[in-house]
Amino acid sequence: EIREQAEQLLSKMTLEDKVGQMTQFDWGYNPINPETGESEHDLIIELIRQGKVGSIFNLSGAAEANELQGLIEQHTELKIPMVIGRDVIHGYRTVFPIPLAMAAAWNPEVARQTSAAASTEALTDGVTWVFAPMIDVSRDPRWGRIAESIGEDPYLTAAYGRAWVEGSQIDNGPGRATASCPKHFAGYGMAEAGRDYNTVDLSDRELRDIILPPFQDAVEAGALSIMASFNEINGIPACANEYLLKTILRDEWGFEGVVASDYNALVELIVHGVAANEEEACEMTVLAGCDMDMHSGIFTRQLPKLVRAGRVPESVVDDSVRRILAMKIKLGLLEQSKSDVSQSAATQPLKSEYVELAREAARQSIVLLQNKEQVLPLSKAGASIAVIGPLADNATDPLGCWALDGRSDEVVTALEGIRQAAAEGTSIRYAQGCDIDSDSEEGFEAALEAARSSDVVVMLLGESATMSGESRSRAALDLPGKQRALVEAVAKLGKPIVAVILSGRPLTFAWLPEQASAIVQAWHLGVQSGNAIADVLFGDFNPSGRLPVTFPQNVGQIPIYHYRKKTGRPPAGAYSSYYIDSTTEPLYPFGYGLTYTEFEYGAIQTSKSSIGADEQLDVTVSIRNVGNLAGEEVVQCYVRDEVASVTQPLKRLVAFRKVKVAAGESVDVTFTIGAAELAILDKHMKRTVEPGDFTLWIGPSAGSGESVSITVEGR
Ligand code: IFM
Repeated sequence: EIREQAEQLLSKMTLEDKVGQMTQFDWGYNPINPETGESEHDLIIELIRQGKVGSIFNLSGAAEANELQGLIEQHTELKIPMVIGRDVIHGYRTVFPIPLAMAAAWNPEVARQTSAAASTEALTDGVTWVFAPMIDVSRDPRWGRIAESIGEDPYLTAAYGRAWVEGSQIDNGPGRATASCPKHFAGYGMAEAGRDYNTVDLSDRELRDIILPPFQDAVEAGALSIMASFNEINGIPACANEYLLKTILRDEWGFEGVVASDYNALVELIVHGVAANEEEACEMTVLAGCDMDMHSGIFTRQLPKLVRAGRVPESVVDDSVRRILAMKIKLGLLEQSKSDVSQSAATQPLKSEYVELAREAARQSIVLLQNKEQVLPLSKAGASIAVIGPLADNATDPLGCWALDGRSDEVVTALEGIRQAAAEGTSIRYAQGCDIDSDSEEGFEAALEAARSSDVVVMLLGESATMSGESRSRAALDLPGKQRALVEAVAKLGKPIVAVILSGRPLTFAWLPEQASAIVQAWHLGVQSGNAIADVLFGDFNPSGRLPVTFPQNVGQIPIYHYRKKTGRPPAGAYSSYYIDSTTEPLYPFGYGLTYTEFEYGAIQTSKSSIGADEQLDVTVSIRNVGNLAGEEVVQCYVRDEVASVTQPLKRLVAFRKVKVAAGESVDVTFTIGAAELAILDKHMKRTVEPGDFTLWIGPSAGSGESVSITVEGR
């Protein structure tokens, strides 16, 4: 039925109408042309009236969205509404933790809920297309966009990607449904040296083992669109890359949704040096299988004449338009494209249920990295607490990158959260100490004074929101400005320090474990940042987050990740794969995180010790909570094929489960292991289970755990 409806519309369209559907403009970009005095908005409005804009993004709310959709109703014959896009990355009005923080919860179900909440809010402002989730596997914390990612592991990324696609594609009937847009296809997170937009050169093996699985899963989860990335991959920019967009996406995976370019990426084909001019850029993009041009306007300017000149078959344009129309029909836009202005999230206070969800998501995202002498949790009464640091009473930066619709006056700062949670009479002394990124030590004395007269010092340190995200690569990953000097000055007082790090990426702070008693990785946690931090500091929430990315000791180790290969000379001193001036071990491994209780792992039981290549076995481990508090453990299962036709990673994450265990109780966790977990891409690039010995680890991180050997029988 959808096909028929799309077909009928298509049959009534002129070539210009079709190209219009393939065109998307950024309403947030509105320069005035000094020669004509016309604004970009004037031009876009004129094109909308002519039915030549298929999509628009960066609108400011329901009223504006209705007005622009109204132009289509009034002025065009076919009355095909625009699909309105927005970067709804980690919340819309209610800002949830950044995706990297959400990944630290190791709980895709929370991401399902937050993405559904975000889409529900966005819909009230006419947004029916969210440019999320970002499922670029990222192993380089210098890359600012690691903040938007699920981290370094393809399995964890795929698990979140599926939940995020399903959560964000809510469907509440005509005009009340949202399309997701998994991005950036593909390899964007592998930018050389962590420099945004940089060259990506990847073997087909790495592409298919690491980068593509989350996208394939997102397609299987029903993603209605995909965004091609900015980067070149193996010499061909993604939006003009036929191998990616046709061979893999359409032919191998059967994707029927819309492929959009990234922002102005068509113009960048000329800068990349693969197109001599706009005509060539247009031709190669459309022929490669890209359906929609984000912002550049090249399709509008070039595509009709290329079709007329026979350089692009009209059938190719028709296929793209069919896909775009099908998406609009699925979203119910043809039946209802306007929103009820009275419900606009842009004009409403935050809903309490979403605020609660933001708090739950934030506290699950927090990772306890160190807790010497159990300085945490703090007692709510009796102790005097100094709260120090540039992120202590800061209401802007906890929103994180890409919080376009968030408001800092809705953010609970750490200081506010701590004040609210502490018992009456507990003295809280606050001093900022220094800025995030300045050279001044002017505030040190006040901070030292606050610390001197307190029993414990909580230091809120880290990065500003604008230090991560798009185009925010860093070459050094130290705490910026004078923050380290501030910690060192406070440490000299001999008081216990609880360092809470707010950042969009792993920072390098190998010196900190010596200076601080406790270290808490608190990322950028969104509107409920301060309450979530206080929940953890005072023990109202037992920390359960685990690192979704390896924390390096120093920048020289990057890229460092758990999925690494053995090499012929594993690190062992001279003439091995090591550094003469650094360890090869990370500061904290992937999957790592502490709690206020203690879990003991029992011996791993296997239902069989050997299986055929198409059989399965169960591995079970008993997790006992031997502490005094209920807690949650993230039980992780890794595998290694000991001898394979192709070298294999030391450890590959194949399953995980987050389980609640009451104090003194134990819980059995069983993973079923079969072809999906054991198969590798063999030397013929076929996904196969190769007979032989495998090692399975079950443990609390990639850096620890008990192992068991199993055998796959065969020739
Ligand atoms: O969705 C984003 C993308 O992730 C990066 N470039 C701009 C797009 C639209 O804002």
